[in-house]
Amino acid sequence: MDVDNSGFTLWLTGLSGSGKSTISHLVAERLRCARRRVELLDGDVVRTNLSQGLGFTKEDRDTNVRRIGFVCELLSRNGVIAVVAAISPYRAAREEVKARIGTFIEVYVECPLDVLAERDVKGLYKQAMAGLLPHFTGVSDPYEPPEKPDLWIRSDQESVEHSVERVWTILKDRDLV
Ligand code: ADX
Repeated sequence: MDVDNSGFTLWLTGLSGSGKSTISHLVAERLRCARRRVELLDGDVVRTNLSQGLGFTKEDRDTNVRRIGFVCELLSRNGVIAVVAAISPYRAAREEVKARIGTFIEVYVECPLDVLAERDVKGLYKQAMAGLLPHFTGVSDPYEPPEKPDLWIRSDQESVEHSVERVWTILKDRDLV
Protein backbone atom coordinates (compact mmCIF):
# COMPACT_ATOMS: atom_id res chain seq x y z
CA MET A 1 0.00 0.00 0.00
CA ASP A 2 0.99 3.62 -0.47
CA VAL A 3 2.71 5.33 2.42
CA ASP A 4 0.45 7.80 4.16
CA ASN A 5 2.23 11.14 4.21
CA SER A 6 -0.15 12.75 6.65
CA GLY A 7 0.63 13.47 10.26
CA PHE A 8 0.00 11.29 13.26
CA THR A 9 0.92 11.12 16.93
CA LEU A 10 3.24 8.55 18.44
CA TRP A 11 2.83 8.68 22.23
CA LEU A 12 5.25 6.95 24.60
CA THR A 13 4.04 6.55 28.18
CA GLY A 14 5.84 4.97 31.12
CA LEU A 15 7.72 5.69 34.32
CA SER A 16 10.57 8.15 34.59
CA GLY A 17 13.80 6.57 33.39
CA SER A 18 12.04 3.75 31.53
CA GLY A 19 13.61 4.75 28.19
CA LYS A 20 10.85 6.83 26.58
CA SER A 21 13.13 9.73 25.67
CA THR A 22 15.89 7.55 24.26
CA ILE A 23 13.52 5.50 22.11
CA SER A 24 11.55 8.53 20.94
CA HIS A 25 14.71 10.44 19.95
CA LEU A 26 15.89 7.52 17.84
CA VAL A 27 12.49 7.01 16.21
CA ALA A 28 12.26 10.74 15.45
CA GLU A 29 15.72 10.61 13.89
CA ARG A 30 14.73 7.67 11.74
CA LEU A 31 11.57 9.44 10.61
CA ARG A 32 13.64 12.49 9.64
CA CYS A 33 15.96 10.27 7.66
CA ALA A 34 12.84 9.05 5.85
CA ARG A 35 12.26 12.72 4.98
CA ARG A 36 9.26 13.11 7.27
CA ARG A 37 8.48 16.23 9.26
CA VAL A 38 8.72 15.46 12.96
CA GLU A 39 8.41 17.28 16.26
CA LEU A 40 9.48 15.66 19.49
CA LEU A 41 7.64 16.66 22.66
CA ASP A 42 9.63 15.44 25.63
CA GLY A 43 8.10 15.82 29.09
CA ASP A 44 11.26 17.27 30.60
CA VAL A 45 11.53 19.87 27.81
CA VAL A 46 7.81 20.69 27.71
CA ARG A 47 7.93 21.40 31.43
CA THR A 48 10.61 24.07 30.90
CA ASN A 49 8.44 26.08 28.48
CA LEU A 50 4.86 25.15 27.52
CA SER A 51 4.11 23.75 30.98
CA GLN A 52 6.50 25.87 33.02
CA GLY A 53 5.15 26.33 36.54
CA LEU A 54 3.12 23.13 36.60
CA GLY A 55 3.81 20.66 39.37
CA PHE A 56 3.06 16.98 39.80
CA THR A 57 -0.41 16.86 41.31
CA LYS A 58 -2.97 14.88 39.34
CA GLU A 59 -4.52 18.11 38.14
CA ASP A 60 -1.21 19.56 36.93
CA ARG A 61 -0.17 16.34 35.21
CA ASP A 62 -3.52 16.14 33.43
CA THR A 63 -3.12 19.76 32.35
CA ASN A 64 0.37 18.96 31.08
CA VAL A 65 -0.92 15.97 29.11
CA ARG A 66 -3.82 17.97 27.66
CA ARG A 67 -1.45 20.73 26.55
CA ILE A 68 0.86 18.25 24.89
CA GLY A 69 -2.16 16.59 23.31
CA PHE A 70 -3.39 19.89 21.96
CA VAL A 71 -0.05 20.59 20.30
CA CYS A 72 -0.06 17.06 18.86
CA GLU A 73 -3.52 17.63 17.47
CA LEU A 74 -2.38 20.81 15.69
CA LEU A 75 0.78 19.21 14.37
CA SER A 76 -0.85 15.96 13.28
CA ARG A 77 -3.60 17.64 11.33
CA ASN A 78 -1.00 19.73 9.50
CA GLY A 79 0.99 16.80 8.26
CA VAL A 80 3.62 16.71 10.98
CA ILE A 81 4.43 13.64 13.05
CA ALA A 82 4.31 14.40 16.76
CA VAL A 83 6.40 12.08 18.92
CA VAL A 84 5.72 12.34 22.65
CA ALA A 85 7.75 11.06 25.58
CA ALA A 86 5.85 11.85 28.76
CA ILE A 87 5.03 9.81 31.85
CA SER A 88 1.35 10.71 31.32
CA PRO A 89 0.33 8.54 34.27
CA TYR A 90 -3.45 8.84 34.11
CA ARG A 91 -5.37 6.65 31.69
CA ALA A 92 -8.37 8.97 31.36
CA ALA A 93 -6.22 11.93 30.30
CA ARG A 94 -4.41 9.80 27.71
CA GLU A 95 -7.73 8.49 26.40
CA GLU A 96 -9.08 12.02 26.18
CA VAL A 97 -6.14 13.13 24.08
CA LYS A 98 -6.31 10.00 21.95
CA ALA A 99 -9.98 10.68 21.15
CA ARG A 100 -9.09 14.11 19.77
CA ILE A 101 -6.34 12.98 17.47
CA GLY A 102 -6.98 11.20 14.18
CA THR A 103 -4.16 8.68 14.23
CA PHE A 104 -2.72 8.02 17.66
CA ILE A 105 -0.25 5.23 18.35
CA GLU A 106 0.25 4.45 22.02
CA VAL A 107 3.46 2.80 23.17
CA TYR A 108 3.85 1.62 26.73
CA VAL A 109 7.48 1.55 27.85
CA GLU A 110 7.55 -0.67 30.90
CA CYS A 111 10.46 -1.24 33.24
CA PRO A 112 10.25 -2.76 36.74
CA LEU A 113 10.71 -0.42 39.64
CA ASP A 114 13.74 -2.22 41.06
CA VAL A 115 15.60 -1.79 37.74
CA LEU A 116 14.65 1.90 37.57
CA ALA A 117 15.77 2.42 41.15
CA GLU A 118 19.04 0.67 40.34
CA ARG A 119 19.67 2.86 37.24
CA ASP A 120 18.35 6.06 38.86
CA VAL A 121 20.06 8.39 36.37
CA LYS A 122 18.54 11.52 37.91
CA GLY A 123 18.77 10.34 41.52
CA LEU A 124 15.02 10.84 41.93
CA TYR A 125 14.10 7.25 42.86
CA LYS A 126 16.55 7.32 45.74
CA GLN A 127 14.95 10.50 47.04
CA ALA A 128 11.42 9.19 46.53
CA MET A 129 12.18 5.89 48.25
CA ALA A 130 13.66 7.79 51.17
CA GLY A 131 10.32 9.58 51.49
CA LEU A 132 11.71 12.91 50.28
CA LEU A 133 9.63 13.21 47.06
CA PRO A 134 5.95 13.03 47.93
CA HIS A 135 4.46 12.77 44.42
CA PHE A 136 6.96 10.65 42.57
CA THR A 137 5.35 8.41 39.94
CA GLY A 138 5.63 4.71 40.67
CA VAL A 139 6.82 5.23 44.23
CA SER A 140 4.63 7.80 45.97
CA ASP A 141 2.22 8.59 43.14
CA PRO A 142 0.13 6.35 40.85
CA TYR A 143 0.85 5.13 37.34
CA GLU A 144 -2.01 3.62 35.37
CA PRO A 145 -0.62 1.47 32.56
CA PRO A 146 -2.46 1.40 29.23
CA GLU A 147 -4.84 -1.54 28.95
CA LYS A 148 -4.41 -2.04 25.22
CA PRO A 149 -1.34 -0.17 23.99
CA ASP A 150 -0.51 -0.47 20.31
CA LEU A 151 2.94 -1.61 21.42
CA TRP A 152 4.28 -2.85 24.74
CA ILE A 153 7.99 -2.51 25.32
CA ARG A 154 9.80 -4.12 28.25
CA SER A 155 12.86 -1.92 28.21
CA ASP A 156 14.77 -4.03 30.73
CA GLN A 157 14.42 -7.09 28.49
CA GLU A 158 15.24 -5.75 25.05
CA SER A 159 17.84 -3.45 23.53
CA VAL A 160 17.01 0.12 22.57
CA GLU A 161 17.73 -0.79 18.94
CA HIS A 162 15.22 -3.63 19.10
CA SER A 163 12.57 -1.37 20.66
CA VAL A 164 13.08 1.22 17.92
CA GLU A 165 12.74 -1.52 15.32
CA ARG A 166 9.49 -2.69 16.89
CA VAL A 167 8.08 0.86 16.86
CA TRP A 168 9.07 1.13 13.22
CA THR A 169 7.34 -2.15 12.42
CA ILE A 170 4.10 -0.92 13.97
CA LEU A 171 4.27 2.26 11.91
CA LYS A 172 4.92 0.20 8.78
CA ASP A 173 2.06 -2.18 9.56
CA ARG A 174 -0.28 0.79 9.80
CA ASP A 175 1.05 2.23 6.52
CA LEU A 176 2.32 5.30 8.35
CA VAL A 177 5.88 5.04 7.07
S1 ADX B 1 3.82 13.91 33.55
O1 ADX B 1 3.42 13.05 34.68
O2 ADX B 1 3.25 15.26 33.66
O3 ADX B 1 3.53 13.30 32.24
P1 ADX B 1 6.45 14.53 32.59
O4 ADX B 1 6.77 13.42 31.66
O5 ADX B 1 5.99 15.84 32.01
O6 ADX B 1 5.40 14.02 33.70
O7 ADX B 1 7.75 14.89 33.48
C1 ADX B 1 8.40 13.86 34.14
C2 ADX B 1 9.82 14.26 34.52
O8 ADX B 1 9.80 15.21 35.56
C3 ADX B 1 10.57 13.06 35.06
O9 ADX B 1 11.32 12.42 34.05
C4 ADX B 1 11.46 13.64 36.12
O10 ADX B 1 12.70 14.02 35.57
C5 ADX B 1 10.77 14.91 36.55
N1 ADX B 1 10.08 14.82 37.85
C6 ADX B 1 10.27 15.69 38.88
N2 ADX B 1 9.44 15.40 39.90
C7 ADX B 1 8.70 14.33 39.52
C8 ADX B 1 7.66 13.58 40.14
N3 ADX B 1 7.22 13.90 41.36
N4 ADX B 1 7.11 12.54 39.48
C9 ADX B 1 7.55 12.24 38.24
N5 ADX B 1 8.53 12.90 37.59
C10 ADX B 1 9.10 13.96 38.21
